[in-house]
Amino acid sequence: MNAEERYRQLTATRSGILLSIETSCDETAAAVVKNGREVLSNTVYTQIPLHKVYGGVVPEIASRSHVEKIGTVVDTALTEAGVTHEDLSGIVVTHGPGLVGALLVGLNYAKGLSLAWDLPFAGVNHIASHIAANYITFPDLEPPFTCLVASGGHSHIIRVDGYNRYTLIGRTRDDAAGEAFDKIARILGLPYPGGPELEKLAKEGDPKAIRFRSAFNEGDSFDFSFSGLKTAAINELHTREQRGETVNRADIAASFQHTLVEVLSEKAVRAAVVQGDKTLALAGGVSANTALREALRQKCERRGIRFCCPDFRYCTDNAAMVGSAGFYRLLSAPPDGFDLNAVPNLAIV
Ligand code: KG4
Ligand code: ZN
Repeated sequence: MNAEERYRQLTATRSGILLSIETSCDETAAAVVKNGREVLSNTVYTQIPLHKVYGGVVPEIASRSHVEKIGTVVDTALTEAGVTHEDLSGIVVTHGPGLVGALLVGLNYAKGLSLAWDLPFAGVNHIASHIAANYITFPDLEPPFTCLVASGGHSHIIRVDGYNRYTLIGRTRDDAAGEAFDKIARILGLPYPGGPELEKLAKEGDPKAIRFRSAFNEGDSFDFSFSGLKTAAINELHTREQRGETVNRADIAASFQHTLVEVLSEKAVRAAVVQGDKTLALAGGVSANTALREALRQKCERRGIRFCCPDFRYCTDNAAMVGSAGFYRLLSAPPDGFDLNAVPNLAIV
């Protein structure tokens, strides 16, 4: 079968096996996913140790490392799934948002395979992929639902109207949630990536020790801002240091996390209520944060709303979620051409 025939079969049967590739930031990942929901393999090579010494992602190092690893990662994903290219219905790949050099590695590799193996291929939005991580963990989950997306680069409250239809309800005006976690972690002397490290430190502190005001977030708007909260946490630390007081870093971490979690969870649950949705999902790297998961779970329970969040292995960047989003992407529109480019600031709506 050629690419056209494979695509026709995929849409006619609404079933098929996809190879998916993700290289938008600092993970080189490939997966094989059946019918958008069943993960046959999920290979992730993380570059975190390479970037740790610099305290953050260095784009040039990320691109070079993707080039080195992509071949092995894709081969491993196919081998672990026990499939060859002849079993595939198509190839899907993240083409934005993300680091342009990093995106180009995965995108061009996918184009090359698609040409060599005569398979349809399509670009997938990285945020749509994070949302789709929930389809893997909850096989019965279907739109419509409200979704809080909190990652290193993005923080949105999105209404998922359909598999490929989204409405933006609210967004951050400045830092993304993960970015705020990473910056405060850095100030507290924690290594990159700061989010999980800050969560660990917060477990030893008192979340009510310091009350960080967050005036912008107190209004009715579904937009949020973390720059004020970030400045308040930094000022707290510096003021205490200047006074020569001992600083309880765990209290700062716990109080900061508590405030951020309250803002995100309050607004997301209120958004679901206003939309009249019976389900609220959480997505993006910060969905690995246990305090955020718990706050949302409790608030949803009180309102009679079903709460969904991805299994931990699908929270941070991976290609299984791309295989899910890519499946629905291919069912809703024809494959992309080889002129598809990487779009660093690709929007979801
Ligand atoms: O989705 P992701 O892997 O990459 C982007 O698309 O940005 O998200 C990475 C972000 C980082 O900022 C990281 O610190 C944060 O997610 N993160 C966490 C946790 N695990 C990852 N933030 C808070 N608590 C965590 N447990
Ligand atoms: Zn991501």
